[in-house]
Amino acid sequence: MSQKRSALTPVPDEVGHHYDRFALSAATKPGDNLHVGYWDDPESEVSPDEAADRLTDVMAEKLKIGAGSRVLDVGCGVGGPGVRIARLTGARVTGISVSQEQVRLANSLAESAGLAEQVLFQRANAMELPFPAQSFDAAIALESIPHMPDRGQVLAQVCRSLRPGGRLVLTDLFERAPIPAAKRPTVDGFHDYFMSTMVQAEDYPPLLRQAGLWFEEISDISEQTLRKSFIWLSARMSRAQPGLAAMFGDEMTGRFDAADMVDVPEFGYLMVVAKRPEE
Ligand SMILES: C[S@@+](CC[C@H](N)C(=O)[O-])C[C@H]1O[C@@H](n2cnc3c(N)ncnc32)[C@H](O)[C@@H]1O
Repeated sequence: MSQKRSALTPVPDEVGHHYDRFALSAATKPGDNLHVGYWDDPESEVSPDEAADRLTDVMAEKLKIGAGSRVLDVGCGVGGPGVRIARLTGARVTGISVSQEQVRLANSLAESAGLAEQVLFQRANAMELPFPAQSFDAAIALESIPHMPDRGQVLAQVCRSLRPGGRLVLTDLFERAPIPAAKRPTVDGFHDYFMSTMVQAEDYPPLLRQAGLWFEEISDISEQTLRKSFIWLSARMSRAQPGLAAMFGDEMTGRFDAADMVDVPEFGYLMVVAKRPEE
C-alpha cells in the first residue's frame, strides 16, 4: 500500500468546524457545488457551474438508480449534488456531512426545492455511519474521501450500509506519477490543510476488496476536471479568499494560490465505481 500519510491526519470534527466556518461565510450559498467541474471536451466553453453539475450527472448515471432508490450521499456539502440527483432520478437521498452548518443549508435547499420529503441531510461521521446494515441501494462520495482519516474504514462502513448488489461511486485525489520535489511544496500546501493521504490508482482495488466491495471501474478523469477547475479558481482567488480565510484563518490565504496547481500533471483526480457483491 503506497498511501502517504501527511503530517496532518484530518480529524472529522475539525474538518466539520472548517466547513462550518465556510458555510457561515458569505462565500457559501445553499446548493453550491463544492467540487471540481467535468468538461467532456477540455476545450469546451461550458461554464464551471455547468461543468460541476456535469460531474454529478456522470457519477449519478453510474449509480444505476431510479425512482424510489435509496441513495446515501457521503459528504454532502451544502446539498447541491444530493438535491440534483433526487430531482433528476426520483431517488430518495440521505446526505451526511460532519458540518452542522452545511446540513442546515442543505436542508433549506431541499425545502425550497419542494423536496423535503425525498431528501434529508443530517450530521454524521462517515467513519461511523449511523444507519442499519443494508439501508441503501447506492452511495455516492463526491470529493469527500480525501478528507477522511482512513479510506479502508469508510469503504467498509459504506459496504455495510449498502444492500447486496448496491453500487458506490466516488471521486478522489491521487498521485498519477511521482511528484517532483520542486512541486511537492505546492501539492502539500494544497493537500495538507485538512486532507489525509494521497493514494495511487493501484491502491483502490485492494482497498475495496478488503472493505468487502467488488471493484468495477476506475477512471483517471484529471484531464476532464482539474486543469480548467484550477484555472477558474485562480481567476476567482480574490473572491474566494474571504471564504478561505473564514475557513482556515489568514495563513491559508497567504499560502495557497490555485494558479500554482494548474500545471502539476502528476496531481490527479479519479473516479471509482464499486459494488457490494450479490449474496
Ligand atoms: C469538498 S466537499 C464536497 C461536498 C459535496 N460532495 C459536493 O461535491 O458539493 C467535502 C465534504 O465532505 C464532508 N466530510 C469530510 N469528512 C467527512 C466525514 N468524516 N464524514 C462525513 N462527511 C465528511 C465535508 O463536511 C464536506 O461536506
